Amino acid sequence: MPDRAYLMESATEIERLEMKTRGEDVIDQALWAGIKPGQRVADIGCGSGKTSFHLLELVQPGGEVVGIDASAERIAYARRTYVHPSLSFVCHDFLEPLNDLGGFDFIWIRFILEHYRKESMTIVQGAYDLLNQGGILCLIDLDHNCLSHHELPSSLARTLEDVMKNLAQLENFDPFAGRKLYAHLYDLKMLNIQVDMRPHNLIYGDLRESDRFNWEQKMLMAAQKSGFLFEKYYENGAEGFCHDFQRYFLDPRRFTYTPMILCRGEKP
Ligand SMILES: C[S@@+](CC[C@H](N)C(=O)[O-])C[C@H]1O[C@@H](n2cnc3c(N)ncnc32)[C@H](O)[C@@H]1O
Repeated sequence: MPDRAYLMESATEIERLEMKTRGEDVIDQALWAGIKPGQRVADIGCGSGKTSFHLLELVQPGGEVVGIDASAERIAYARRTYVHPSLSFVCHDFLEPLNDLGGFDFIWIRFILEHYRKESMTIVQGAYDLLNQGGILCLIDLDHNCLSHHELPSSLARTLEDVMKNLAQLENFDPFAGRKLYAHLYDLKMLNIQVDMRPHNLIYGDLRESDRFNWEQKMLMAAQKSGFLFEKYYENGAEGFCHDFQRYFLDPRRFTYTPMILCRGEKP
């Protein structure tokens, strides 16, 4: 198991991942990156297995997907839920060598590097080493994560900025992981590197239940793990902060966006 617990670890993490992962987005992003039938795919940090399942559709006929995650609970759920002869799930810490899994033609690393500010290049290098010649590495992450909202009351905006700074320092979180992806592939001298940017969260008007639940969990985890002294500003501490954020977030006038950066390259 990794030394530090995954930032979003909670009893509801499977539910959060299942609710927020949209199959059509995974398909669209993987096609953009160049996934093709017949390829052998690694889904590094596969969570509940939903992404692996959709990647599998795209490599049929003849392809195979291996989902890798350190959470025994999420791997057990994935094995129960997404059953196919060409789909397997491995419980493994991706900070440790993965060479036993063999070579891959396409590697998917989405919403992972944001959790590893310090080790991101080591993770990317490890994935690169697993790629067959001509294989594709697809990195996808958010930029300005949790930080782009209008019109956040100024006290809430200041607190949120401090919370994210604390998470970067204490939890190795990287709210700016997205902007670093191109440099990772450039430094590896990958070929045919392409970059795209799309809105991940684009939230205005009435709130969808999946967005409400996702952001409630994000703020709860951020508040609990940031070590921020909420008592300075909120009578009932972190609970007060989460309550105020939720009140802001439920207002249909609120506007929130998060840029998602997609970057893909081929191994020479
Ligand atoms: C945000 S979720 C997965 C999202 C998924 N990749 C997607 O495309 O939607 C991150 C996952 O990475 C896993 N993870 C975090 N650190 C890990 C590590 N060192 N080794 C393996 N899995 C890890 C967590 O258990 C969690 O299930």
